[in-house]
Amino acid sequence: VEKSSKRLTIAIQKSGRLSKESMKLLEACGYKFSLHEARLLAHSSNQPVDLLRVRDDDIPGLVMDGVVDIGIIGQNVLEEVRLERAATQVNNDFSALRSLDFGGCRLSLAVPKEDDYQGVQDLNGKRIATTYPYLLQDYLRRQGVNASTAILTGSVEVAPRAGLADAVCDLVSTGATLEANGLVEKEIIFTSTAQLIQRPEPLSAEKQAIVDQLLPRIDGVLMAKE
Ligand code: PRP
Ligand code: ZN
Ligand code: MG
Repeated sequence: VEKSSKRLTIAIQKSGRLSKESMKLLEACGYKFSLHEARLLAHSSNQPVDLLRVRDDDIPGLVMDGVVDIGIIGQNVLEEVRLERAATQVNNDFSALRSLDFGGCRLSLAVPKEDDYQGVQDLNGKRIATTYPYLLQDYLRRQGVNASTAILTGSVEVAPRAGLADAVCDLVSTGATLEANGLVEKEIIFTSTAQLIQRPEPLSAEKQAIVDQLLPRIDGVLMAKE
C-alpha cells in the first residue's frame, strides 16, 4: 500500500450491517469515491482521502496499530477487540471521535424456547456459543456465573440445535434470526451503535486538517437527521 502523510485513510466495513450507512455518511460529508468491487482501497476523486474496505473485525486493530487513520466500527466489535488486546497485552488505545446514529444492535444471551430459563444463574456450568468471548466472559464474571464458551465466527444461532452449545450470545437487531432458530432473547449484555474512532498517535498537520473539516460535517449530517 502506497501511504502518504497527506491523504487520510478511513477504514469501513466492506460488506455487512455497517457498510451502506458508512458510505452514505462519507458521501453526505462531500467525499466522492468510485468503488471497484475487487479493490480494497478506493481513492476519493475530490478530497485527499482514501477508503479501505475490510472486514469489520479488523477495523479496531487497524486503527489501534495506526495502519489507518480513522475508522467506522460497531461498538460491539470495538469493545471486544479492546478487551482481547488488554488481556493479551497488545496496545488497545484509540481516540473516540463521534458516536454515530446507525448500526444499532444489542449483544444478547438467548436460549432455546423450550428451556425453562429463570435467570442468568441457570447458565452456570453451561456452554454458550458466541463470536464475542471477551464481552461474554466479562458479563458472566460480573454476574458471578461460570460458563464455558464455544467460539464461532458465524452461524452462532444454529449451535444449540447442532448440539454445540446450550445457549448463544449473539447480535440481535430485528430478532428475526433468533426467532427463525427457535431461540428466545433473555439478557441484553451490551448495546451498540457505530462509532468513529481515530488512531492513538497524532496525525500529520495535513491529515489533522482533513479530520477538522470532516467532524463538523458529520455533526451537520447527524443533526439534520434528528
Ligand atoms: C448478526 C447476528 C445474526 C443477525 C441478527 O449477524 O450474528 O446473524 O445479525 O440480526 P437480526 O436480529 O436482525 O436477525 P451480522 O449480520 O452482523 O453478521 P455476522 O454474523 O457475519 O457478523
Ligand atoms: Zn464481522
Ligand atoms: Mg450473523
